[in-house]
Amino acid sequence: MKYKYIGVDPLTPAIGALISGVDISTEITREIVEEIESAFHNHLVLFFEDQKLTPSQLVDFAKRFGKIGYYPFVQGMEAQPEVVEVVKNEDEKINFGGLWHTDTSYLPKPPASSMLYALEVPTFGGDTLFANMYLAYESLSEEFKQLISNLSAVNSAEKPDAAVTRVHRIAEKPRDSEDIITTAIHPIVRTHPKTGRKALYCSAAHSMHLKGMSIEESGCILEYLYTVQQREEFSCRYKWKKGSLAFWDNRCAQHNALNDYHGFRRVMHRVTHEGDVPR
Ligand code: OGA
Ligand code: MN
Repeated sequence: MKYKYIGVDPLTPAIGALISGVDISTEITREIVEEIESAFHNHLVLFFEDQKLTPSQLVDFAKRFGKIGYYPFVQGMEAQPEVVEVVKNEDEKINFGGLWHTDTSYLPKPPASSMLYALEVPTFGGDTLFANMYLAYESLSEEFKQLISNLSAVNSAEKPDAAVTRVHRIAEKPRDSEDIITTAIHPIVRTHPKTGRKALYCSAAHSMHLKGMSIEESGCILEYLYTVQQREEFSCRYKWKKGSLAFWDNRCAQHNALNDYHGFRRVMHRVTHEGDVPR
């Protein structure tokens, strides 16, 4: 793949690329947007470094790639409601997103993609892992692919390991919780609407069990798939710097925020894009 306007340097053969040559705080041209989109579909998560973005510039950049979505549990910033602050304070032990997941897959229409912009990062630690769910799927035998081809998972926001990662942020800025949807049934193999490729879509964070199967029965399949999804050979690890922005595809990638920096503060601004019903 040749790019004319941007630099694209892969992090690993499996996933992730560093994008250079663009100042995303300015209004970028249609040609640059298209190149970013094609790099996005090739590498699944893109990183832009040394960027200076106000919350409104972050939203302007995000809008070039889709309609802005919203996070059901935590309120956005007062001045910029599309942006949610993802914080871990010095005295906290729990971090937001600290397990393998794809964002809010318990919603009927989970976000297509997410952007995270780093304002304050720990001196060391606090990296994020990303993994390629096309490769995870493609690594399965034809027989296993066949076996799982029509299975769906019941995804819930209430799995304890995932629910706990939100508690501090919800305590700080709760959204009106009356009508939050916290369960959705989605196929565990989905076809990406843009690339047409199949990807594994169940996740250790949100999938409770397979539709029509007990937790024990489901475990045989789901627990195995989680180990495949989390294989090093499908992943990359990103070390954040202040001013870095990550832009990832929730339909074909998962991520995991490492929680190895107790005592340090980490502050990110987060925006998501609306997505389709997974099929
Ligand atoms: C998220 C998330 C990861 C991180 O914002 O959806 O999982 O590294 N964050 O903070
Ligand atoms: Mn996440």
